[in-house]
Amino acid sequence: MKNNKVFKFTGLILSMALLFSACGSQIETSVSPQASVSVSQSESESLSDVTSVSEDDQKEQDEALLIEAKKIYQSADHSVQERIDALLSVMTLEEKAYQCVQGEQANVTVDDVKRTGIGSVLSGGGSAPSTGNNPENWQERVNELKAAALETRLEIPLLYGIDAVHGNNNIYGATVFPHNIGLGAANDPELMEEIAKVVAREVRAVGVQYSFAPCLANPQNERWGRTYEGFSEKASDVAKLAGPFVAALQGYVTDDEYMQGDAIIACAKHFIGEGYTEDGINQGDVKMTPAEFDKLLSMGILDPYRACIDSNVLTLMPSYNSIDGLKCHENRHLLTEVLKEQLGFKGMVISDYNAIQQCKGTYNDQVANCFNAGVDMFMEAQNWDVCAKTIVNLVKEGKITEERLNDAVSRILRVKFMSNMFDEEINSAHENELLSEFGSAENREVARRAVRESLVLLKNDKIKGKTTLERMKDATNIIVCGSGAFDLGRQCGGWTIFWEGKAGNITQGTPVIQGIYDEVKDHAKVSHNVNGKVDVSGDLIVTVIGENPYSETGGDRLPSGLKPISADVKLLDAIEESIAENGNDPLKVLIVLAGRPIDITDYVDRYDAVVMAFLPGTEGEGIADVLFGDYDFTGTLPMTWIKDQEKVNDKFSLPESEILFPYGFGLNKAGKKLTRE
Ligand code: BGC
Repeated sequence: MKNNKVFKFTGLILSMALLFSACGSQIETSVSPQASVSVSQSESESLSDVTSVSEDDQKEQDEALLIEAKKIYQSADHSVQERIDALLSVMTLEEKAYQCVQGEQANVTVDDVKRTGIGSVLSGGGSAPSTGNNPENWQERVNELKAAALETRLEIPLLYGIDAVHGNNNIYGATVFPHNIGLGAANDPELMEEIAKVVAREVRAVGVQYSFAPCLANPQNERWGRTYEGFSEKASDVAKLAGPFVAALQGYVTDDEYMQGDAIIACAKHFIGEGYTEDGINQGDVKMTPAEFDKLLSMGILDPYRACIDSNVLTLMPSYNSIDGLKCHENRHLLTEVLKEQLGFKGMVISDYNAIQQCKGTYNDQVANCFNAGVDMFMEAQNWDVCAKTIVNLVKEGKITEERLNDAVSRILRVKFMSNMFDEEINSAHENELLSEFGSAENREVARRAVRESLVLLKNDKIKGKTTLERMKDATNIIVCGSGAFDLGRQCGGWTIFWEGKAGNITQGTPVIQGIYDEVKDHAKVSHNVNGKVDVSGDLIVTVIGENPYSETGGDRLPSGLKPISADVKLLDAIEESIAENGNDPLKVLIVLAGRPIDITDYVDRYDAVVMAFLPGTEGEGIADVLFGDYDFTGTLPMTWIKDQEKVNDKFSLPESEILFPYGFGLNKAGKKLTRE
């Protein structure tokens, strides 16, 4: 019965289309994807009763088709491709365009979702629900938006994205892992999988299905404010760690299959050239001709992307940077020819936060050029509505072909089907179970292990036959110096609760000093000095120094800015003065909390042992586990550390004598040099 009706209405529409096909001045009536007919103004008026009858009929036909399509696209008994085809066949131009945009949650209301069927919403760095930053409020906010999407005609689920770049780090109380640079030092693919599983569970706990991670940059110049987001200066290390991370985060999903377990969607970012910009400038330019850049591509910088594509990464984000003046977002050669055609990436390309607005031309040009270059979903945080309308107009004007639009929407739907979004229960009992495990001791145990593995011992002097690290255990009066020792915000760095992070006790976790105290309390006294004239009467001084939190451009530095914060520099001098005055000779251990190599050359000479702890996250006791417990150091440097930061722009051409610690360097407690494999 239904099929007959459909046939009849299709026949009517066809005859109308034929009837008016020769008309001059055209207006488009786009009431349905099946019935996009063109009629001239005058004829449409004179035939108003025919069209009004046909509009009613059309509505009925659409409903019938939709019911049939839903039987396919809402059932996991069908293949991913069958479901994509069925859904695509009933979508209007507007519905397709809105699938292609992502807005920031602070700029999207529940009614907006119901009105437009927006494809995706994100919480940018530091964007918490207006009701407050705790897991329960997050879950409520995410789920109210997700529920609204199910009230649209097509009931296409809403994709919710977040930057879970070192744990579900936006949310108060999350387990926060070391930033990628520290994981690059750990260099352990199996650890990466364990981390990914915890991250996926803590993201799923609040209803979110998508994380903009991992970052595949291989930083060449530590002046860059995103250095700590990269695993290593070597692309081969990044590939080794990112592939397993993506696989585990996405539940080891394979091509066009459905995800299993508590998995989330990953995002390989930022494609490409990141870390290679002139002077390390964030969002800057890679000064290479296209031919030179193509040569670089063939030399391994695509390998991290290959590894992620082999792990079926479902999404990818282009980089803000440009190559020879052309922004990656509008670079068709890179996004379509290299990424989609040569590397065979089948997933969705999502633009970075308002990044298309940095491309050339008017807003229309930006949307058209980026769409045609290969961007499938537009992260237009505030402008998402205008962006969708622009896409509609550009398709009508023929500046974006329907084929390209359908390709983009298919890629987006593929992500949504493969990640089981159409089969997902909102606020399920299981989600609430995960919520009760948010930031649990078990999850934190994985982060604590990651901290232990990420530490790099840079110096370990032998005194009276024993190394400093071996002698530390005998200390009974430990003096911990530096505000970084009790500052969770500094040990977590950027992308923690706030986009740029923030010094202070901004979330739950264990500061370094607490970890030390817990580890040694049975046999040693621990006291703390922050600044000024310090008490150095103990037999061991542990000084914690480093950077204050930052993210992205806010972390870009001149060479002279690559150093510990000024309070720490003063403290280091004050410690020396006090020791000279006091006349004692304590063991001295320096711990560096920083997202990159910084200028510590003078202090290395003054200290008996030096540990690079990077930005370890919330589990500071991981440091004490190695310093005072039975664990040994296994981490090695993922970046070359030079002596004089003024020469950082030329670091790879410096002679050996200018290198403080080479790439791959690390010692163990016995003082043996480790090998980086
Ligand atoms: C960053 C991305 C991030 C996005 C969304 C941008 O500023 O470059 O890495 O995923 O914001 O928060």
